[in-house]
Amino acid sequence: MSQNLSITLLPLRQLPVDKYFLKVCESTNQIAKLFLESGVKIPFVIIAEAQTRGKGQRGRLWVSDKGGLYASFVVRKMDSRKALIIGALTSYHVLSKLLPVKMRFPNDIMVEKKKISGILVELTSEATIIGIGVNVNQKDFPETLQGIATSLYLETGSMYDLNQILDLYIEELTRLLDFDYATLFNNYSKAVFFRGLCNIHLSGGRNFTCVIEKIERDFSVVTDRGVFPFDHIIWIEWM
Ligand code: BTN
Repeated sequence: MSQNLSITLLPLRQLPVDKYFLKVCESTNQIAKLFLESGVKIPFVIIAEAQTRGKGQRGRLWVSDKGGLYASFVVRKMDSRKALIIGALTSYHVLSKLLPVKMRFPNDIMVEKKKISGILVELTSEATIIGIGVNVNQKDFPETLQGIATSLYLETGSMYDLNQILDLYIEELTRLLDFDYATLFNNYSKAVFFRGLCNIHLSGGRNFTCVIEKIERDFSVVTDRGVFPFDHIIWIEWM
């Protein structure tokens, strides 16, 4: 491991997951993979105070300055859709306790039109990595994120204890792991928000400006321009 890892294993309270805290790393998802390769037993969580190359969706960078929560939850292998739902619902449920948020399809947690939390699921041959980024105590964002990102601090004017927020995430994610796909999807489909015009970019370079009418249980997306299998969707641009 080339990064500067300052690791402390803290089996805190009764939460059934080992937590590994890093000052800084490129990406907690990447460290999670290194830990898996070195035989660390699941479940565990990697948390960093800051990331230098936080991974976002579609190969984008997730800006990860100090003040946010950057955590990769490493759990047993499961279907990627189930993991996506568990990650999104976890963040949605925890943040809903603190302020009004929406869960925008498929897994962005929004305050109005600004993103406050994002989820990146990665599967390995033996485990599922649910990477969650939450903007918590950031007082500002780089210019590129002005108007499209927000934090708990900016929305509520309060600073939050990152360890307490982390524990809420661990508790909720652990709780959701016990549910079957049907139950999770049922809850997800009731909560997920997809109203309004969007541009769906498909593999192969095609894209459709459309309105989403429904998300099927297999995650295919029913729109006024046709039905798109989730695996064919590269990204959804909201208008
Ligand atoms: C998105 O683009 O919406 C997904 C962002 C996911 C960011 C989190 S931060 C913790 C974990 N480690 C990463 O490198 N990415 C995820």
